[in-house]
Amino acid sequence: MSALQWATAFAPASVGNVAIGFDILGFAVDALGDRVTVSRSERPGVTISSVTGIAGELPTDPKHNTAGRALLALHETLAPGFGLEMRIEKGIPLGSGLGGSAASAVAAVVAGNELLGAPCEKLELLKFAMQGEAVASGSLHVDNISPSLFGGLVLTVGIEQPRVKRIPVPKGVCAVIVHPHMFLATRQARAILKREVTLSDFVWQTANLAGFISGCYTDDLDMIRASFEDVVIEPQRQALIPGFGEVRAAAMAAGALGCSISGAGPTLFAWALETQAHAVLAAMRAPLAAGGAALDEWVVGLQGEGARVVASG
Ligand code: HSE
Repeated sequence: MSALQWATAFAPASVGNVAIGFDILGFAVDALGDRVTVSRSERPGVTISSVTGIAGELPTDPKHNTAGRALLALHETLAPGFGLEMRIEKGIPLGSGLGGSAASAVAAVVAGNELLGAPCEKLELLKFAMQGEAVASGSLHVDNISPSLFGGLVLTVGIEQPRVKRIPVPKGVCAVIVHPHMFLATRQARAILKREVTLSDFVWQTANLAGFISGCYTDDLDMIRASFEDVVIEPQRQALIPGFGEVRAAAMAAGALGCSISGAGPTLFAWALETQAHAVLAAMRAPLAAGGAALDEWVVGLQGEGARVVASG
């Protein structure tokens, strides 16, 4: 058991789905993230003492808070014999589609694990963090948690026994991300989805996912561009994001490899060669700015390191 009194972890934002990998594929966005500090406490169980940053109204009952639920899962399993108190600093806007709930859950379990002497591997921490994500979105999915925890582009297969694979991204490819200032609840964006998929959409989507992953492994940009298309989820969700069709068309015309919705939206992202990223960003910005939306924008690498302990004492 460690002698630490407290530990702080940072967990990056993430883009879920990456167009063709609904609920199973995501990449980390190191430019922003959440921080959680976990300290020893004389109060039993898990308590949340503060939520600061761009938080809005978040519950401080740990059972109803993503980070709280994740840390409860870790605390129940490891049973350290003392309580844990947490402070959450939100750096990711709520309802943005940038994996804010996942990042808080990941930062909480990474900090809690450090405080307790780092007994758990990342794969165990993933399972605790998944409990937190379920509080936010009403379902157990891992496409934000895995990249936030492991960094880079990550494929996750399975829920009970998740298998995580970091996928290589061809050199010189980066992500362009545009966040229009509007709130979109993940629950709502999931609730509108049809429960059935046609056979022809199933064939296209599996072909595109396989093509995308194989293109990443073989540095085949032509294959990545040809398969960077979600034929199942994006057509159903795009009406929730004003200007989406124009943004996508503009990004592709400016040379993007692909452009889609980040997670449940409203953030939009593209992949592009670094040499074309700023042209793609300008192209994506124009239709949204013309519609009057306030925006945040990032151009980021795809080789991030994932969640980490940033301080302890
Ligand atoms: N894969 C999820 C979705 C990400 O698109 O609903 C949002 O949490």
